[in-house]
Amino acid sequence: MQFVETHMLAVDPIAPDPTRIASAAAALLRGELVAFPTETVYGLGANALDARAVARIFAAKERPAADPLIVHVATLDQLASVVAAMPPLAYELARRFWPGPLTLVLPRGQRIPPVVSAGMDSVAVRVPDHPVAFALLKAAGVPVAAPSANRFTRPSPTTAQHVYDDLKQRVEIILDGGPTPIGLESTVLSLVGAQPEVLRPGGVPIEALRAFVPNLVYQPRYLAAEAGAQLAPGMLLKHYAPDAELLLFTGPREAVLAAMHAAATDLLAAGQRVGVMATNQDADTFADLRVRLELLGSLGNLAQIGARLFASLRALEHTQAQTILVRGVEQDGLGLAIWDRLLRATEGRVLRIP
Ligand code: TXA
Ligand code: MG
Repeated sequence: MQFVETHMLAVDPIAPDPTRIASAAAALLRGELVAFPTETVYGLGANALDARAVARIFAAKERPAADPLIVHVATLDQLASVVAAMPPLAYELARRFWPGPLTLVLPRGQRIPPVVSAGMDSVAVRVPDHPVAFALLKAAGVPVAAPSANRFTRPSPTTAQHVYDDLKQRVEIILDGGPTPIGLESTVLSLVGAQPEVLRPGGVPIEALRAFVPNLVYQPRYLAAEAGAQLAPGMLLKHYAPDAELLLFTGPREAVLAAMHAAATDLLAAGQRVGVMATNQDADTFADLRVRLELLGSLGNLAQIGARLFASLRALEHTQAQTILVRGVEQDGLGLAIWDRLLRATEGRVLRIP
């Protein structure tokens, strides 16, 4: 591991200072790492054409080399250097959803070194919808490989401080453009298999994709990390895990809230520090308990819940909570991505309340 000095550069999220963007772009072209905000989460970027720089991403994150990265481009014409082919469906999806939180897996172009894609013939690519990411990609003029800028198995970072907490001395520059608006990673859609397949639910709801891709496949295939062999990249269950133990409850609302209240009471009686992530409406249930509470926003406002999810997990960790309780959401729209992240954070343990 190469230890470096980390510089935090504040930039306006709407009109970033061109001088700061230029110095970050120059760093990328020197083979250095630059973390930057996107509309989903912060990314840890390296020049995607530079195999040595890309290898540093894996080292900094302590990420297994078998887990491929997403390549980011500013515009459609930069795609030519990234993918070997662009099927008509990819164009249609790009026109509708880019810039935005949709990642397409396509045949890998020859200029992209294999390390980016963990040796596979495919490559994941997207055009992010954030002025800072756009300015950086434009100024660098190269495609930028960038996974989420967290250490492996940590929650994805939605602020520059989260990046700093995980990666200080492992990244040269962090562009601080404030909190990321969506807060959940992009939807990953593979177009290289027999049928179009969602590999990870994310910022673009599956319902929105189905309108364009009627034969879309989505089969959640979670694997316990301990189970060994990986089914497909990124399907490791142990992902986004906070330091505390997370208990995910699901079932009818009143019954679940009663079960959570009882569990919190027991844990507190046993001397534990207990955290609860709850919507504004659910929070009242815990008013009589000395739990550390993180408000996720309004019940039914999935965008708000999604935007606060990872930050709330990290905030509760900072309170040294030993156990964190959370109630699951409906799996419609953005709720599917929220459910997926919660399930991974609990390593698949769901408490189903009748
Ligand atoms: O919103 C996002 O997607 C963020 C921002 C920074 O763009 N990036 C992100 O990257 O979440 P990462 O590396 O944390 O997640 C990338 C996901 C992984 O699940 C990976 O396995 C999958 O995309 N992936 C990447 N390349 C792939 C490929 N060639 N085939 C299949 N899956 C791929
Ligand atoms: Mg990630």
